[in-house]
Amino acid sequence: MTLSESEPQPNAARSIHLSVMPDEIVQYACEIHPRVVVDGTFGGGGHSRLILQRFDDYRDNTPDVSWNSLSIVALDRDPAVSQRAESIPLDPRIDLYLGSYESTPIALKSAGFPAADAIILDLGLSSDQLADRDRGFSFNSDGELDLRFDPESGIPAHQWLMRHDEKAIADAIYQFGEERYSRRIAREIIARARSKRPVRTVSEMVDICRRCVPRSKNHDIHPATRTFQALRIAVNQELDILTRTMQQVADWLAPGGRILVLSFHSLEDRIVKNAFRQEDRLEVLTKKPLRPTDQEIQHNPRSRSAKLRIAQRRDAES
Ligand SMILES: C[S@@+](CC[C@H](N)C(=O)[O-])C[C@H]1O[C@@H](n2cnc3c(N)ncnc32)[C@H](O)[C@@H]1O
Repeated sequence: MTLSESEPQPNAARSIHLSVMPDEIVQYACEIHPRVVVDGTFGGGGHSRLILQRFDDYRDNTPDVSWNSLSIVALDRDPAVSQRAESIPLDPRIDLYLGSYESTPIALKSAGFPAADAIILDLGLSSDQLADRDRGFSFNSDGELDLRFDPESGIPAHQWLMRHDEKAIADAIYQFGEERYSRRIAREIIARARSKRPVRTVSEMVDICRRCVPRSKNHDIHPATRTFQALRIAVNQELDILTRTMQQVADWLAPGGRILVLSFHSLEDRIVKNAFRQEDRLEVLTKKPLRPTDQEIQHNPRSRSAKLRIAQRRDAES
């Protein structure tokens, strides 16, 4: 669905999300002078806006203009993103689609392009989603434990917990959240369900985490952070979608086109690293992932775990 088909939301606010590694993303995406950029995780649209700005600066300052057009095909799974964009109109060079980045080929086709010159994936959650108390992403909310990017597809986290046994819950919390106390947490979740008081709200889940996870020494991480991350990854099937996308992404790129992936979790990073290595049509441009500078981490602490990997599709004859 394009933006023009969705209803305006009068209360939608401006994005508060600070884009991660903006300079690196703009440099690597723009130095090949792309004509079609896919922003697969549009969020607050920060990366897209910076890329358009770089294009405009180039056009204003370069007399011999070979880079003379730029379109952005943007996707996001979260309907709130398209609603916000409807209330604050987007640059007309951006076509926004509600859907997963896995649907990039459909979005490209619908925008009239055969392939992309650059594809950007900035994984995970935006600060806007975290700040929205109705979505269950924030520990301060007393809403339902939902955690879906798209509240109209899949099942909310509290139902996911009901459909899995103790071992599966513990494994997910350990694997996707790297939470050492995953078994304790899973045991409590199941004990509540057995006593006919299944976890349903954010505050119930936060209480369990508070009881099961000792405060970290320097109090730098909330006891529920890792568990919420794990449940969000599970409910949204984030790793499956990333894996399937990475297996196909070379097909979606034009020769010479680049894929840039910003990940925030070691499992995501491993999927990207292995997929780049296994695809003969891709040349890896970042032997080691790029990391945010200390200055950026200070300014935007959310960037601290970011890793940026970039690969380029080889030309047909090379
Ligand atoms: C970190 S934010 C992106 C921020 C954006 N790059 C910016 O600079 O404003 C991640 C976004 O990806 C979206 N998202 C998560 N999984 C997705 C998927 N499979 N397909 C499309 N969007 C997804 C989330 O809804 C969220 O809005």
